[in-house]
Amino acid sequence: MNKIIQQNFKVEFNYNISFTEGVFDVNNPLLSNLLTSKNKNSTTRAVVILDKGMFYYHSYLIEQIQTYFKKCCLKIQLMGEPLMVEGGEGVKNKWSVVENVLDLVNKKKIDRHSFVIAVGGGAVLDMVGFASAIAHRGIQIIRIPTTVLSQNDSGVGVKNSINYFDKKNFLGTFQPPFAVINDQTFLTTLSDRHWRSGISEAIKVALIKDSLFFNWIEDHITLLNNRDPETMNNLIFKCAQLHTAHIGGGDPFEKGSSRPLDFGHWAAHKLEYLTNYELTHGEAVAIGIALDSCYSYCIGYLSENELKRILHCFNNLGFELSCPLLLDPLDINRINQKLITGLEEFREHLGGVLTIMLLRGIGQGEEIHEIEKSKLDQSIVLIASFQNKKLTV
Ligand SMILES: NC(=O)c1ccc[n+]([C@@H]2O[C@H](COP(=O)([O-])OP(=O)(O)OC[C@H]3O[C@@H](n4cnc5c(N)ncnc54)[C@H](O)[C@@H]3O)[C@@H](O)[C@H]2O)c1
Ligand SMILES: [Zn+2]
Repeated sequence: MNKIIQQNFKVEFNYNISFTEGVFDVNNPLLSNLLTSKNKNSTTRAVVILDKGMFYYHSYLIEQIQTYFKKCCLKIQLMGEPLMVEGGEGVKNKWSVVENVLDLVNKKKIDRHSFVIAVGGGAVLDMVGFASAIAHRGIQIIRIPTTVLSQNDSGVGVKNSINYFDKKNFLGTFQPPFAVINDQTFLTTLSDRHWRSGISEAIKVALIKDSLFFNWIEDHITLLNNRDPETMNNLIFKCAQLHTAHIGGGDPFEKGSSRPLDFGHWAAHKLEYLTNYELTHGEAVAIGIALDSCYSYCIGYLSENELKRILHCFNNLGFELSCPLLLDPLDINRINQKLITGLEEFREHLGGVLTIMLLRGIGQGEEIHEIEKSKLDQSIVLIASFQNKKLTV
């Protein structure tokens, strides 16, 4: 006789994404309030992990962090100096760095009521998030994102990852953070390239969800190009809000086959790998969105005017939309076969049926389950001609 015990429970997650300036300034109580909000016993500890690329411009941080804990976080033990890890995608390609974080958690006796505080770009946050999620089955993490992309997208969600088997984000978990703190002070030292890079994720979410936000981005291109801080803060806030609403409102742990926020990402992830991560994530996403927007136009979903607006928007922000790796090396009118394998890898990452987000209009995403190769060929030719300023669209 078969027997069944049925298990059924729900777990609720809550966390705040706060916006501030000078997170480690002794006059700013935000972090100390967070650290003491739930954990008030004397064994609560914290370790800090810093992105070296960011630290290069913010070398005052070590002293500032120590002073902050001494003066503002009397109940929390800061366990030694911050651990420095290399910044950029390379940190997601090295298992040894994950081990360094695990080693820190072990040696400093960081338990599940203690905190890992990660300060850096999306790559460092993804790697530290992964290590924190697997240590003791999950240490609380406070993310302090320091790039546009990590403040408006990667840092505010529930995923972490490293690259493995030569595949982007192959290893990773879903682990909501304890809190996220976006400190605008960090953005001033970004290179122009990384300042621009994160804007593509804002264009992405605007294109699939919010046409008014897309109009707003179009109207603020000059201010964004001139690195106007207030304009960027507004872009980051709106983009983070749209991402957060989507994640919380639907399928946060991606149990289905659909991943709308990954519009343009099937090609982007593969291009990042094919260029040996020479393209940043945001730059690859811009190309991926251009490709899938051209595809939407080629199958009659998007009007010519809408496609022009999208391509011009990226172009005017300084994004390069064509890339030699889009093209078959033997026939520039065909899409690179190596890129096509990205479609199956994208499907496999989620499981289930292939689900690709396209555009039915600006602000209106629509998912499809099949991609016609001949239309992809037409799409890469369109992008190349646009980029060559022949403007056939
Ligand atoms: N987990 C998710 O949901 C999710 C979502 C989107 C993207 N991502 C991941 O995010 C990563 C990209 O993140 P990114 O765009 O932040 O790039 P990045 O982390 O590669 O950082 C870019 C460069 O900027 C440096 N840097 C960081 N902060 C700085 C500062 N304030 N001043 C000067 N330099 C600074 C870094 O050292 C690095 O060299 C990719 O690995 C991507 O896959 C994850
Ligand atoms: Zn992305």
